[in-house]
This record gives sequence, C-alpha cells and structure tokens, in this order.
Amino acid sequence: MSQSAWSVMPANALAHEPVLAHEVVALLDVAAGMTVVDGTFGAGGHAAMLAEQMHGRGAYVAIDRDPSVEARARAFRAAHPDMAVRLMKRDFVDAFRSLAVEGVRADAVLLDLGVSSMQIDQPERGFSYTVDAPLDMRMDPRDGETAADLLARLPERELAELFARYGEERYARPIAKAIGRRRRERPYERSADLVETIRRAIPTPAQFGAGHPAKRVFQALRIAVNDELTMVDEGLEAALAILKPGGRIAVISFHSLEDRIVKERFRRAAQPCTCPPDLPVCACRRQATLRVLTPRVIRPGAAEADRNPRAASSRLRAAERTAVPLGEAG
Ligand SMILES: C[S@@+](CC[C@H](N)C(=O)[O-])C[C@H]1O[C@@H](n2cnc3c(N)ncnc32)[C@H](O)[C@@H]1O
Repeated sequence: MSQSAWSVMPANALAHEPVLAHEVVALLDVAAGMTVVDGTFGAGGHAAMLAEQMHGRGAYVAIDRDPSVEARARAFRAAHPDMAVRLMKRDFVDAFRSLAVEGVRADAVLLDLGVSSMQIDQPERGFSYTVDAPLDMRMDPRDGETAADLLARLPERELAELFARYGEERYARPIAKAIGRRRRERPYERSADLVETIRRAIPTPAQFGAGHPAKRVFQALRIAVNDELTMVDEGLEAALAILKPGGRIAVISFHSLEDRIVKERFRRAAQPCTCPPDLPVCACRRQATLRVLTPRVIRPGAAEADRNPRAASSRLRAAERTAVPLGEAG
C-alpha cells in the first residue's frame, strides 16, 4: 500500500492486527488516567487496544522514527478526543531520554521492535526481498546510510561477519565474496540485483530450503542500517529510567539477538544483592529494580501464527518496576 493511501485512511481503519496483543494488554494492565509511552507506534494497532483498556482517558505518547506514521497518529488522536496524545517522530532512545529530562513518568512502556507490515508493504522502502525496489531499508528515510551504501562501503570480510552475526546466514562468506565481485562491475542499487547474487552464491539445494534464500541477508542489512541492536540495549535502559515504581514494560522482539538483549537486561535489573554468600553483610548495596513478569518468554499460539505470519517469530517479555528510587535504576 502506498504512503498516500495510508494518509487518507479513516480513524476506524486502525483495526490492524497487532502481534501478541491480548498478552500485551494483560501484562501492561493499564487503566483510565494512566500515562502510556509507546516506543514503536507503527500502525497504532497496540495503541488502539491499550486506549480501549484506558477507556480513552489518560496520556499516550506515540513514538516512531518513521515519519510516515503521522497520519496514523492523527487518526488515533481523533479517535480518542479525551486522551492527551503526543507524537514524537524520532528514535525511542532519544525520545525516552527527552521524556526523562521533561520529568515525564510512565505507567507503561511498550516496545514492539522491528519493521511494521506498513513499511514492508511500501515497496519503495526496500525492506522486502520479494519485490524489486531501491535498496534503502532505513526506518527513518531522513537519516543515515542506506543498505546500498553499506553494500558499497563495507569490506567483504565485514559483510560476511554482518550476515553471519545478524542474519545467522550459513553461506555468509560465499555471499560476501559474490557481492565483492559483482560490485566491482557496478554498485548495487536494487533489491532484485542483491537477491540474484545471493541465489547464485549459495548451493542449489539451499535455494529451496526453509524460507526465502535472501531472508537472512536482508534481515542482517536491515539490523545494521537501523542500528537495531544498539537501539534495543540503550532503549531499555532509557525506558527503565522513565518507568514509575509499579509501572510495567513489555517488549516484543522478532529474533533471538534482540530477545537475548531483553532477557539479559531484565535478568540483571531483577537481580538483588550480588555479594558472595559468605559475606556477613551486603557490601554491594544492590537492589532489584525490576520484577520479571514473564519467567518464560511468551510466544504466539498456533492460531495467531497461522493467521498472521509476521507473528510467527515474535516473543514477548515483560517486567514491573520495583519501588527503588528512579535514580538507582539498574
Ligand atoms: C512492529 S512495528 C510496530 C507496530 C505497532 N505496535 C502496531 O501495533 O501497529 C515497529 C515500528 O517501530 C518503529 N521503530 C523501530 N525501531 C525504532 C526505534 N529505534 N525508534 C523508534 N521507532 C522505531 C518502526 O518504524 C515501526 O513503525
């Protein structure tokens, strides 16, 4: 769907199916009058469900680094006239930090990471390996290097590392070599050229294995272009700094690298005193700043995964801020 088509969408078109929505609503447990900070507003699907739970009253901060969500945010505001809706068109790390400086404190923070179906459905953004488009992949088209820039700039060795690390691509080296050869003739501009190089670089049986052969390389490039893992790590720290005691955070991630960061940060923040057990009194003075609400990661049920293919790889973790003073957040 084109950007202009989204911008003429009426408020009731907010009915897009958000991932693990019922689980998110149950875990965040919001109520009328609360302040919710949504770090990844996207198409506003979770926002619509949370606003309903808030009976349309309270404050909703809608953050997204993709400026094209503006029409959706305006429709959301129009649909909830009794709610203070604020749109921040920037990355969530930056937004959370500004909110902290302003003294805003949240009852709930939501992060639904990765790209939205809205972005994938805009072929000109270059996120999809199934349609030929410019190799862009920036969530914020106003800022930073495109995927084509990265493919032109990075040495073959670094490309191979990137594909292996962020895409868990088994054929990372042959693909990087093939890219090196191809770009000496002419630079990459379009996604179909890259898909073709990947197909040629991998053994024939692998081309017909699980999933599209270009899926992992595209994922790796998207993560690098948008600096996604740094965003998750720094975003969690900044989010915890604005959570009120008793406030809750829910994070949906779409691959193990992101989920590992979330799990580890929650685990560290939930850890009380770390002194050796034989020390008579605590010397570290550490207190748990979070209580983990999801001892086991939550995955979608078979029905949701079948209905909504984007949900299939999703995983949700949530935690509650303890009463430790905000300045001592771990
Ligand atoms: C999976 S979608 C969110 C969908 C949304 N929860 C819904 O129900 O419609 C992710 C959105 O987060 C945005 N996003 C991803 N990383 C971001 C970041 N670091 N800062 C701000 N927005 C980000 C993307 O632009 C995209 O619109």
